[in-house]
Amino acid sequence: MTSNGAPAGSVEPAEIDTSKAHAARVYDYLLGGRANFKVDREAAEITYAAWPGGIDAVRADVREHRAALGRVVRYFVANGVTQFLDIGTGIPKQNNVHEVAQAEEADPRIVYVDWDPIVLAHAHQLLRGSPEGTVSYIYGDLHDPQPILREAAKTLDFSRPVAVMLFGILHFFSAADNPRGVLAQLLEPLPAGSGLAISHLASDLHPDEMSEAFSRLNARLAETVTLRSHDEVAALLTGLDLVEPGVVQTAHWRPDPGAATPPSQVWIGVGRKAR
Ligand SMILES: C[S@@+](CC[C@H](N)C(=O)[O-])C[C@H]1O[C@@H](n2cnc3c(N)ncnc32)[C@H](O)[C@@H]1O
Repeated sequence: MTSNGAPAGSVEPAEIDTSKAHAARVYDYLLGGRANFKVDREAAEITYAAWPGGIDAVRADVREHRAALGRVVRYFVANGVTQFLDIGTGIPKQNNVHEVAQAEEADPRIVYVDWDPIVLAHAHQLLRGSPEGTVSYIYGDLHDPQPILREAAKTLDFSRPVAVMLFGILHFFSAADNPRGVLAQLLEPLPAGSGLAISHLASDLHPDEMSEAFSRLNARLAETVTLRSHDEVAALLTGLDLVEPGVVQTAHWRPDPGAATPPSQVWIGVGRKAR
């Protein structure tokens, strides 16, 4: 079983729990989606009640986060990586990995993974319109990478490079969850040229506001957020070749020419496996 109550690597959903807020649904609310409950909306509003610029400023940051995910996917495709393992998919309606990759490349392969049953309920939207066998969805828990890898190998060819996308998920891992060990397991079967992309909530950007906001959120959320500093996020990419411009705030990761680069509450970094 996953620690979220579902059989690992399966497509069997756990019950939808509305007694607490859940990360996928709070994030959906911030993105303006409808796959959320009162408990999620209240958690988001209370969390960001004292945030400079209010919840609208947070929503702009979340939209920029999705745009950065798109830029990372385009970077990988432009550099010959057309297979993606996107863990912690969430419920976003737009700019999903397969949509961005399919716009750039004729035959990308994408495996989505999440442990929230509401994501499974929306997975058909992710899979719709894609050629059979090119996009799949796994109900899995990142704490246990082996079932994820076993299932993913049915869609992805591990003899060719794979980009592992961990956007907005590793801050649900405390030090005791051993994120470095999980990453090592995930990358071990992948060949040279494979990549790891991380986005992570920061402890050292707007530190006072972040500490206040996330102690409020952690009191209401099923998952627990651990904020990390720039150097702690960079350490998660140790052993990989760090792609320029390194670990930077969201909008600074290879912005489109002329784009604004507003400050953010999130670090982003990409590494490539040399061998
Ligand atoms: C904040 S959302 C990020 C969505 C998307 N990746 C993005 O960055 O735009 C985090 C997602 O990670 C999922 N998640 C958290 N812990 C997980 C775990 N241990 N295994 C699988 N999914 C997890 C949540 O259910 C949620 O959908």
